[in-house]
Amino acid sequence: MPSDMQLLKENLAVVEPVQDKAVGYFYATLFRRNPEVRSMFPLVMDVQRDRLFRALTSAVQGMDRPESLVPMLRQLARDHRKFGVRPEHYEVVGRALIGAVRQYSYGDWSEEIEAAWWRAFTMIARTMIDAAAEVEHEPATWQAEIVSHQRRTLDIAVLRLRPDAPYPFEAGQYTTVESPWLPRVWRSYSMANAPRPGNEIELHVRRIGAGWVSGALLRKHQAGDVLRLGPPRGDTVLDRDSPRDLLCVAGSTGLAPMKAIIEDLGRSNTTRRAHLFFGARLEEDLYDLDGLDDLAARHPWLTVIPTVSHDPGYPGEQGNAAEVAARRGAWQHHDVYVSGSPAMITAATALFRELQVPAGRIRYDSFGDTGIVRGF
Ligand SMILES: Cc1cc2nc3c(=O)[nH]c(=O)nc-3n(C[C@H](O)[C@H](O)[C@H](O)COP(=O)(O)OP(=O)(O)OC[C@H]3O[C@@H](n4cnc5c(N)ncnc54)[C@H](O)[C@@H]3O)c2cc1C
Ligand code: HEM
Repeated sequence: MPSDMQLLKENLAVVEPVQDKAVGYFYATLFRRNPEVRSMFPLVMDVQRDRLFRALTSAVQGMDRPESLVPMLRQLARDHRKFGVRPEHYEVVGRALIGAVRQYSYGDWSEEIEAAWWRAFTMIARTMIDAAAEVEHEPATWQAEIVSHQRRTLDIAVLRLRPDAPYPFEAGQYTTVESPWLPRVWRSYSMANAPRPGNEIELHVRRIGAGWVSGALLRKHQAGDVLRLGPPRGDTVLDRDSPRDLLCVAGSTGLAPMKAIIEDLGRSNTTRRAHLFFGARLEEDLYDLDGLDDLAARHPWLTVIPTVSHDPGYPGEQGNAAEVAARRGAWQHHDVYVSGSPAMITAATALFRELQVPAGRIRYDSFGDTGIVRGF
């Protein structure tokens, strides 16, 4: 008898090549049968519309690794409170999901496969429903006033926000932001500071091409505006018990969580050293050198190395942050933290693996996908 896992993986291999069609079918049936859930989703759903579907299928594939899947599902459930998700919505999503995979299995379907899907989905839904119930006492969202908005380059701004209630995050985590200009369109931004007494958080936002939320945050918003935040997310936090020195590698606004982690380290550190490589394409994109000078002046154990990859005339270190780091040291005994675009993370992790840094000591949050989509 094949196991549930085997059945599901074989079935997903059939559906994956036509996943786009399955996603379309999933949303069409979900919204037709349950019009009330349509208002939880963005008005226009072309950008990143496959995230929920991909997450559901990847969660099912990750069921044989509950030690990583369950914590992710718990964070996701806490986050889903911001959409207004209630326990009864899980079954309707399950029906639409399983209906879509059945439809795009093109007859390669059986009662056993359907039963395996329901068992997997029920376990995922139960984990999320229970986790959401445990945090019922905390706000589902926070209103956060922009207390300062500094345009540092044409495409990068540093925003300081003050949430309307204590925001319980750890240095290295990210928040999700909804602009009133773009209702129900949520994007992730990393906190650039460790928690502070005034409850303020700093975000570093880089505008991506025609990007919706980054464009609004850069160009439309100003001090005094109010944004909505979801709960904090992410596991790329400082390992306080580790005795090892730190290597932090940041591409562009990937600097934000690295600064937070270093600030956190600064609160207790007596013995660990840290190197921070901060990379940009051009010198003018090194948008926070003054802030980094301050940090290095306060923490003698910190060395900051800015790097520039696309200006042969730059007098300092040439290359992207990971390449320069690789040239400058032996890092196999360090804890390595990497933050930036998906391409940068992929290249940097491969490079540090080649340099014999054990995989378990390389931590990152890619600015592309959130954990559950990336991790499985
Ligand atoms: C965990 C996490 C943390 C993040 N932290 C930060 C942060 O601190 N600062 C920050 O500036 N951004 C951060 N991001 C990226 C951010 O969440 C958005 O993806 C980014 O601002 C683009 O959103 P948008 O709505 O402007 O663009 P969209 O409207 O979503 O996208 C517009 C177009 O750009 C493409 N695109 C989207 N994102 C990227 C990208 N990163 N690189 C290249 N092309 C892209 C899309 O495929 C689409 O074609 C983080 C992302 C994640 C997952
Ligand atoms: C059953 C398990 C579920 C899983 C694993 C899951 C997973 C996800 C993931 C990973 C995302 C992408 C956003 C992010 O990473 O933060 C997402 C978005 C979303 N989910 Fe879920 N989800 C589940 C159930 C539900 C249910 C029951 C609802 C209610 C109808 C729901 C509504 C949404 C909405 C509204 C979005 C935002 C979509 C968008 O921005 O396009 N989800 N979900």
